[in-house]
Amino acid sequence: MMNPQLRAIVRGMPKAELHIHIEGSLEPELIFALAERNGVPLGYESVEHLRSAYAFTDLQSFLDIYYAGASVLLKEQDFYDMTQAYLRRAEADNVLHTEIFFDPQTHTARGVAIADVINGIHRACQDSPVSAALILCFLRHLSEEEAFETLEDALPHRDKFIGIGLDSSEVGNPPEKFLRVFARCRELGLHLVAHAGEEGPPAYIRTALDDLKVERIDHGVRCLEDAELTARLAREQIALTVCPLSNTKLRVFDQMHDHNLVQLLDAGLLVTVNSDDPAYFGGYMNDNFDAIFDALPLGLSHAQRLARNGFIAAFLPQAQKDAFLATVDAYFAQHAAAHGIAQ
Ligand code: ADE
Ligand code: ZN
Repeated sequence: MMNPQLRAIVRGMPKAELHIHIEGSLEPELIFALAERNGVPLGYESVEHLRSAYAFTDLQSFLDIYYAGASVLLKEQDFYDMTQAYLRRAEADNVLHTEIFFDPQTHTARGVAIADVINGIHRACQDSPVSAALILCFLRHLSEEEAFETLEDALPHRDKFIGIGLDSSEVGNPPEKFLRVFARCRELGLHLVAHAGEEGPPAYIRTALDDLKVERIDHGVRCLEDAELTARLAREQIALTVCPLSNTKLRVFDQMHDHNLVQLLDAGLLVTVNSDDPAYFGGYMNDNFDAIFDALPLGLSHAQRLARNGFIAAFLPQAQKDAFLATVDAYFAQHAAAHGIAQ
């Protein structure tokens, strides 16, 4: 277990979160409240029954429950309430900046207007003291044509999102399936990211970079199986948005002790720590930091590096990044000295 001083410093340090699916922040209590408010039948009789179904064996077993949970979201206010709840939790964990994924196709398939999805999430971001931006994700188990339709649908709201991502069932749906739609998004000046190398092979990380031209890799933990790819990720300082509790809950690693985060850092990679789907995987940002610092040989200098990496990898103007980085460095200068810990 981590020493209590280090724990307090890590919990209090300024953070950026770059990999959070807003639908994955929907807590069972809110799922039940929204189901009742909207008259949506749920296949679970209580919050406890629903929570006890959160025992996953792999990514797909999680996605099935995640999409079922999202079925209670119908109105703009539902998206607002969900996002407001997440932002309050993020703020409590000292997240100063967050880039939030959302999955419009999960909702438009149920007849929800994309305007209600985007406006609800965006309005909550505007009302929060946390700096927040949105990244629209295409569901990779659907076709590229459907991704194009979703993009068209979203374009009237172009000012409310900064980027495009790719999520859902990875294996069998390689990045190159979305080559043309990502090229179009690039022309539109959107930032690009993709989930790759979570359950899928290192080859998917390569095609995400070479074919989709993404700027960050979501997860990417399987890169270490390919030394040449790892060297490239280090050389080009391509950020990996790693999600430790997600990785153990979805059995990418059996236990946190087996997680490769330290090896990723030792390989010189721009590793960030994130919560992915906090309502489903056992916690928000500080729960993720507690878990890795408890299980892995990490110290104060790793904490500062991880906090800095989150802001370095953020899609923010350089001046804003520099201001956040100065806040991180000032925090560590002050707390390390106050606790008598050598930096
Ligand atoms: N959608 C929500 N969480 C996801 C994850 N970890 N991987 C792929 N798709 C997701
Ligand atoms: Zn994810």
